[in-house]
Amino acid sequence: MEKRYDTWVEIDLNAIRHNIQTIALIAGKPVMAIIKANAYGHGMIPVGKAAIAAGCPFVAVARFGEAQELRQAGITTPILVLGYIHPKDIEEAARESIRATLFSYEQMKQYEEALRGTWKKLPVHVKVDVGMGRLGEQAEDGLRFLQSAASSAVFDVEGLYSHFSKADMLEDDATGLQFSRFDRLIREAEKAGLRPRIVHLANSAGAVFHPEICKYDMVRGGIAIYGLDPSDSARLSPDFQPALSWKAGITSVKTVPAGQEISYCGRYKTQKDNSRIGVIPVGYADGFGRILENRVLVHGRRVPVLGTVCMDQCMIDLNEVPDAVTGDEAVILGSQGDDRISAEELGARWHTINYDVVCGIAERVTRLYTPELS
Ligand SMILES: Cc1ncc(COP(=O)(O)O)c(C=O)c1O
Repeated sequence: MEKRYDTWVEIDLNAIRHNIQTIALIAGKPVMAIIKANAYGHGMIPVGKAAIAAGCPFVAVARFGEAQELRQAGITTPILVLGYIHPKDIEEAARESIRATLFSYEQMKQYEEALRGTWKKLPVHVKVDVGMGRLGEQAEDGLRFLQSAASSAVFDVEGLYSHFSKADMLEDDATGLQFSRFDRLIREAEKAGLRPRIVHLANSAGAVFHPEICKYDMVRGGIAIYGLDPSDSARLSPDFQPALSWKAGITSVKTVPAGQEISYCGRYKTQKDNSRIGVIPVGYADGFGRILENRVLVHGRRVPVLGTVCMDQCMIDLNEVPDAVTGDEAVILGSQGDDRISAEELGARWHTINYDVVCGIAERVTRLYTPELS
């Protein structure tokens, strides 16, 4: 293979398809693929197409602009926007059959005004709050909210959903309570003849670890479709496959004397003469954590990143890999030889979570796909 001297991520779309099918099998329900935030850094359009090919009847994003991008890419599958759509965009949403989340009376009024006189109804998924404290009328008031939406001439109430705050905290029993709030509302809606066609509740942790909450029409798969753990206590089985690796080509190798300071602020000083210092084109502007304890894999060995991570580059210790030369591959996230650096490990090292690690990989880092995109 030709050597590369830049940084890139490799995304295995077969792994994403496999993970989606694994969730569907566990939950016994179709998966709405959550592909917001550039599909958690994996690339929204290729992942969206792979998810649809894997059988997802719906995809979901956070912002209207993301939904527009998917439509512009020729994706005709139903799209749900999980966040707020500005009233100025709502007519276009209706025209493009982009589903809006309806989460408050105030927003309902805004949309009714914006849609007055238009012929096309806006498909909406009503959202209630069962304990997250984010979007949604309180579930206890959910039936009244649902009635208001259903009686409005401008909405087609297609869906009803909520989102758990602690589904990934398996030791906490809040999920049971949040589920009972939601289920009570569904029973009330059924009795009133107002149950929407698509009810969905579980996120990845819910779909994989709480079978009782998968009883509705769909589950929403986010982190698990990328093969990543919902949390430290909700770890996926080896049936799931991480889809993303992050690599870089070594751009410089040199030897320097003992006592040479490395990088900004001189936080590292070489210990011995003829210290072999490599440079990789990966920095904090690429999403690499600006901490002192980083490691990367070279020739299958873990080598320390030396000193301060710069904006676009960092230096690595090549003393233990004397054969490493420029153009050799360094793995920032993923496997090499018998070792592997996971997104979970990076999350712990950077005092954050795996979600943040993959979402944080900058757009300028080239994405390469297997199978290759046509
Ligand atoms: C409303 C909603 N549903 C589902 C998800 C997917 O969650 P996860 O990635 O934990 O599966 C998210 C993610 O933030 C969300 O906001």
